[in-house]
Amino acid sequence: MDLSYILNILGEERENYYHAVAPPIIQTSNFAFDDVAALRESLKDEFVNPLYSRGLNPTLDILRKKLAALDGAEDALVVGSGVAATFIAVLANVKQGDHVICVEKPYSWTNKLFNDLLPRFGVTCTFIDGTKIENFENALKPNTKIIYLESPNTFTFELQDLEAVSKLAKSKNILTIIDNTYCSPLNQKPIEWGIDITIQTATKYIGGHSDVLGGVICGSSEMIKKIFKSDFLNIGATLSPFNAWLMLRSLRTLDLRVDRSSESASKLVAHLELHPKIEKMYFPFSKTFPQNELAKKQMKRNGGMFTVALKVNSIDEIEKFCNSLKRFLMAVSWGGHESLVFPVCASIPKETFDPAIIHHRLVRFYIGLEDAEILKEDIEQALEVGVNSLLL
Ligand SMILES: Cc1ncc(COP(=O)(O)O)c(C=O)c1O
Repeated sequence: MDLSYILNILGEERENYYHAVAPPIIQTSNFAFDDVAALRESLKDEFVNPLYSRGLNPTLDILRKKLAALDGAEDALVVGSGVAATFIAVLANVKQGDHVICVEKPYSWTNKLFNDLLPRFGVTCTFIDGTKIENFENALKPNTKIIYLESPNTFTFELQDLEAVSKLAKSKNILTIIDNTYCSPLNQKPIEWGIDITIQTATKYIGGHSDVLGGVICGSSEMIKKIFKSDFLNIGATLSPFNAWLMLRSLRTLDLRVDRSSESASKLVAHLELHPKIEKMYFPFSKTFPQNELAKKQMKRNGGMFTVALKVNSIDEIEKFCNSLKRFLMAVSWGGHESLVFPVCASIPKETFDPAIIHHRLVRFYIGLEDAEILKEDIEQALEVGVNSLLL
């Protein structure tokens, strides 16, 4: 199925809604039935026909079909946020006494899920450096049920070898789940490498305009049905029909936006990685990136984020640099139209800043849809104003 077909045609049964080009927002919580027999039929299996919008809704169904096809999956569920997608996909597949292996440094709330929330219910987790397959092998326990991946992560972009991990997991009957948000399904298709479930936050590229939260879970029909019938319905983290519609609208331009963001990010990386005020560039498609070969193997191309370590001796310089940027908004998140900057030093108490710790000097950029040349000039002028010690 080609990308244009998925984004523009798949799932859109226009004959059912006056041949309208834009799909309708079926803004209803409830669905009515002609007779008791029809109601009984629907109650038997909520996964077949809409009964109540916490389960199925026709606007969401169009989105589900497109998102599943983008991932090369049989089916998908959409939920109210990325963290809900992770939580529901994991929860539906563990019980008390089970063990999970998760890559180190995952998204912060994924870390909290495995470190804090699930241990309260008797599910334990081992965090490992996922860059080496032997670390997965060594962390295996008889009760390991899930290997949770995030490749790349969204700060320093460490990868996992998806083919090798899925081979290992299959040999032990362990489920693999990946957070594929950095790449989006356009730049990486983990299911093709044998991964069982992909999740992503639709708040980033799928929504694409920083005006909607959402999450996606993709997998086999059997797995999606299982998740739907268990924890999806029970947790009730439903996506609203209006937010689903916003995402359908955004999907029309997904490939244009992802391409532009990827292209502009690589232009900026090419310029900045040689810059005298930058000590280190973190970017999977940079030649100096330790896992560059693996990135080229399993990813189609880079996403729109990269991180730099500034050559500075003080936190004040980092703050001055970030405060001097005129074309970047200072914020968490990413994946929208607008370029963003996020310095690590904002997440630590100022007095603990230590320039000898490279992590403290990291600044993450997300490159949006603006003109790359203008963004480059903006970073240049901010480096000029902010970064002056060069004493490292
Ligand atoms: C990699 C990654 N996964 C998951 C999430 C959570 O998504 P949401 O904010 O939609 O809950 C985020 C949010 O920033 C993220 O960056």
